[in-house]
Amino acid sequence: MKYRKFGKLGIEGSAFGLGCMRFNGPASGDTIIDEQKAIGLIRRAIDGGVNYIDTAYVYLDRTSETVVGKALRDGYREKVNIATKMPAEYVHNRQEMAALLDEELKKLQTDHIDFYLMHGINREKWEYFKSIGAPQFFDDMKREGKIRYKCFSFHGPYEAFEAIINAWDWDMVQIQYNFMDVDNQAGTKGLELAGRLGIPVVIMEGLLGGQLANAPENVQALYDAFPVKRSPVEWAFRWLCNHPEVATVLSGCNEIEQIDDNLRIFDTVAPNIMAGEELKLIEDVRAAYLSRRKIGCTGCRYCMPCPNGVNIPGIFSAWNKQSLYNLDPRHNWDYGQLVQRGETADRCVACGACEAACPQHLPIIDSLKAAQAALGQG
Ligand SMILES: NC(=O)c1ccc[n+]([C@@H]2O[C@H](COP(=O)([O-])OP(=O)(O)OC[C@H]3O[C@@H](n4cnc5c(N)ncnc54)[C@H](OP(=O)(O)O)[C@@H]3O)[C@@H](O)[C@H]2O)c1
Repeated sequence: MKYRKFGKLGIEGSAFGLGCMRFNGPASGDTIIDEQKAIGLIRRAIDGGVNYIDTAYVYLDRTSETVVGKALRDGYREKVNIATKMPAEYVHNRQEMAALLDEELKKLQTDHIDFYLMHGINREKWEYFKSIGAPQFFDDMKREGKIRYKCFSFHGPYEAFEAIINAWDWDMVQIQYNFMDVDNQAGTKGLELAGRLGIPVVIMEGLLGGQLANAPENVQALYDAFPVKRSPVEWAFRWLCNHPEVATVLSGCNEIEQIDDNLRIFDTVAPNIMAGEELKLIEDVRAAYLSRRKIGCTGCRYCMPCPNGVNIPGIFSAWNKQSLYNLDPRHNWDYGQLVQRGETADRCVACGACEAACPQHLPIIDSLKAAQAALGQG
């Protein structure tokens, strides 16, 4: 296992951090976590050198922290940093924040959290956390020793990331980042900004939730043609760790084989080790993925609101993702959300208001029909 610097904090953490958001149930489709298996996975990772464990109050129907707490008995707690999070949805005042943190400490069977994060914030959630006094609460808890570092995880556009990271003296940030998300969310700009501020960056969704593990044919052909043979997973993690700003890459693993594979991979990584040809390969891989896009919608939302309630950019994004990553339509989570909210393309009456507004002049009506045919197979 390689260990990496945590920016200004003066500590080192394992390059591979275990994410505890994706443990399965005993049988496929189960929502109840297979506790013994999950404990085995966590301990295997720690025995292999992982010293950063990421969980959250809300993961796995609020059972993740409990399982992590059980896994960290028998001397494992002392070997790791625990990261967990405060969800905006569950707290409305200081009293509730204090009660939630105490509940987390109890579930995790510890007297302190190492990295405590405001969970999944964007501009609105940051404003909300400020309005209920969360920054003061985090400062006080740090002083009392209940948390060591005050941090946030982020999902939103770069502009919001820049505003939030500059708004307070954060100790660490967690962002979604991988070679397909260089211009998405905080993106490369956000990573580099954090680096300039000396704030360590923890990465989530390094494999896009596993989507980058199974390369479609045109992408696999590029990997196969490269003189050095590495799996898509190894390329994705190697590329992330090539960035010196990255402190730890989280990955949620469900099988011992995945843990062992990642332990092996994260023993080979280091900042700035990828030569020109390797970086070019990743550029080519990104282009090969993007060539699978179905429609060049930029998500500008000029077409919205649709008078009939069709979520046009949402549908095109789900359609592109399904094609890019060769997703089984039954597992297209983004489309599932649109179905739940009743925003699908079958509501289109071809009024044409969207096409008149689209700055890209996209053939929206016909594309919605094609998208519905592809997405609706699930
Ligand atoms: N704070 C937030 O807002 C937030 C949001 C998202 C995630 N997170 C945290 O970040 C962690 C990491 O994100 P993530 O779980 O999405 O990470 P990820 O690495 O992008 O995806 C994990 C998935 O990748 C696959 N995988 C991992 N290692 C593999 C290997 N060696 N070979 C083949 N497949 C492999 C597995 O998919 P299969 O199970 O399909 O095989 C696994 O479930 C989460 O667990 C969570 O702790 C936080």
